[in-house]
Order: sequence, then C-alpha cells, then structure tokens
Amino acid sequence: MTEAVLLVGGQGTRLRPLTINTPKPMLPVAGVPFTVHQITRARDAGVTRIVLGTSYRAEVFREFIDGNDLGIEVVIATEDEPLGTGGAIRHALPYLTSGPDEPVLVFNGDVLSGLDIAGLVRHHVTSESDVSLYLTPVEDPRAYGLVPTDELGRVTQFLEKPQTPEEIVTDQINAGCYVFKRSIIDAIPTGRPVSVERETFPGLLEAGALVSGVVDRGYWLDLGTPLSFVRGSCDLVMGLAPSPAVAAIGSSLVLPGSVIGARAHLDGGTTIGSNVDVGDDCVIDGAVVFDGAVIGAGARITNSIIGVGSRIGSGCVIDGAVIGDGAVIGAGNELLAGARVWPDAVIGDTAVRFSSDRS
Ligand code: GTP
Repeated sequence: MTEAVLLVGGQGTRLRPLTINTPKPMLPVAGVPFTVHQITRARDAGVTRIVLGTSYRAEVFREFIDGNDLGIEVVIATEDEPLGTGGAIRHALPYLTSGPDEPVLVFNGDVLSGLDIAGLVRHHVTSESDVSLYLTPVEDPRAYGLVPTDELGRVTQFLEKPQTPEEIVTDQINAGCYVFKRSIIDAIPTGRPVSVERETFPGLLEAGALVSGVVDRGYWLDLGTPLSFVRGSCDLVMGLAPSPAVAAIGSSLVLPGSVIGARAHLDGGTTIGSNVDVGDDCVIDGAVVFDGAVIGAGARITNSIIGVGSRIGSGCVIDGAVIGDGAVIGAGNELLAGARVWPDAVIGDTAVRFSSDRS
C-alpha cells in the first residue's frame, strides 16, 4: 500500500479571477475538477489512500469528496492558516498510517504529468533515498527551481528561480512530485509556514541526506497560468496528456445538457461544460467553457476560459482572455491577449478593444 499527500491549499493567484470562487485544483479541466485527474492517476498507479492538504476554500474540496466516490480513500486535512508546501506536508503527518521507513508520495495540486508514479516509488525504495524528486527538463528554466544531479542521480543543489547564465547549470526542474521516507516528514518543523523547496530540501542536502532525482521526459505542465490551464485541458481532451478521468478523447468534449447551434465549430480540445448554450456559427477553438455559460451567435473564442454562467454577446472575439463567473460581455466586443474580466462585471454592447497591451 502506498499513501500520498496532495497539496491543494494554495490561493492560485495567477489564475484570478477564476480562483476567487473555486480553488485552482477544483476548477474543471476536461470536464472534471483537476484534482480528480490527479487522484485517479495516483489510484491507478497503486496509491490506496490520499490525504488532501487543504487551506484556501477547504469547504469546496470537502463538499466534492463527500459527494463522489473516486475508488480510493480520501482524507481531508485542513490548515487553519496556510503553512506553505513543507508545512502542509508536516500538517498531514497525523493523517498518515505509513511506518517511519515507508514511502509517502507528495503531489503539487496543479501539475499535469505523464510521470510513471509507480516507477518513482520503486526507484525511491531500491535506492534507499530519503527523498526522491521527479525532475523534468524545460527549455527556459528561469521561472522554476533548478535541481542539478550527479552521475549517480543524487541531487547536488537546489536553485530557486535562477536568473544569471552562471546560475542556470541544468535544464532539470523540480516537477512537483516527491517521495518522502515518512520519518523525513516527522522532522519538518510544526506550527509555522515552511517551504519544501526553499527550506526542507536544501536543509536535507546540508545534513547529508540522500536526495535523489528521477528525470522523466514525458508530458509535464504546470497549470498555474490561464494559458497553461487551457493548454492542459485541451491536451487532456485530445489525449496528449494521460488521465483515466477524461470521458472521451477527441477534438472537443461537450458535457450533458449543452446545446450547440447550427454550423458552430468546436475544435482544438475545447471543453464545453454542462448546460452551456453555444449559438449558431460560433467558432470555439482551444478553449474551456464552464457550466451554464451562454455564447451568442457568431462569437469567436480561442485560447480562453469562460467562467460559470457568464454570457458572451453575439459576434464577440475573445482570444487569450479569462472571463470571470457570471460576467456579461455585450455583443461585438473584442477581448484579447491577457484580458481578464472579473466575476459579474458587465461590459456593454460596443466594439471596444480590451487588451492588456492595447497594441
Ligand atoms: P499561485 O498563487 O498562482 O502561485 O498558485 P498556488 O497558490 O497554487 O501556489 P504554488 O503554485 O506555488 O503552490 C504549489 C502547490 O502547493 C499547489 O498545489 C498549491 O495548492 C499548494 N500549496 C501552496 N501553498 C500551500 C499551503 O500553504 N498549504 C497547502 N495545503 N497547500 C499549499
């Protein structure tokens, strides 16, 4: 039996305004909350028990878990105050049943990946590591934590968000999934915020612990920004990212209760949530439309997220934008390149151009 801790307590600030009502891991991705993809992947890899480390809007997780059977035991641990990634892992300790030398998986709640989870656990056990980290190579590592390893796969350093060329010593980054020997979790300080990336891991290296890295070159995406959120959802729908929780692979996914107008074209892995009304002649390509939205005739929506119950007027052009829940966008508007509309905002019927760069 393997236990896991899933860290889902962050505020998801980069995905605002979507995360005002719903915590990031509970936003629907390819038709189900993102957390469901992670829990079912872990379940299929042999994990039998998951502790959800919640903080921000914990009640949303509780309601969902109480009402859905995911075929695995899910326990909810809620921090009174956010304790950071390391503090959240330590806070989950009393909820774990593993012995001190047994492996405990830890997942960040916003990473979509094709990682061989069982393989990482096997590596951890056979190498007798204290902690094993999933690493992935990226083209531009500046926004991430770099994790160089030696020829035996032992981690030699942790470098958070390197900027100078001298600091960029590897393209391997911390991919947000770890295996801890349970006794290592015991030693994380309690009662205060702790960052696993900035404090726990560097501290373990200093103390001479065996921290190993496993590089996996398969699918990996951090769903933390609007564009990557849309990308991840579309990749799941099109079968480019693996998950047992996608209802059907194809060029688009339409949930029950939605009505798609004549000549409307859905493509690029678009998800249309339930009870959505898509007008005639719309083009929706590479987008995520949440439940209950109404899209007017002839609207063109690409690379965008349309919030729950929002109304998009006919003929609108929306590209690379986030429309908050319940917002109303009048006919003929253009919202481009990074535009974000707050929940319940109303934009009148004009042909105004809304764009973050206004170019
Ligand atoms: P941003 O605010 O947009 O950076 O997103 P975030 O809040 O999710 O932060 P980040 O991406 O750095 O967090 C990585 C993972 O750890 C996510 O799955 C978060 O939900 C989780 N996390 C971050 N801080 C906490 C915390 O204090 N408690 C718990 N339980 N989880 C956390």
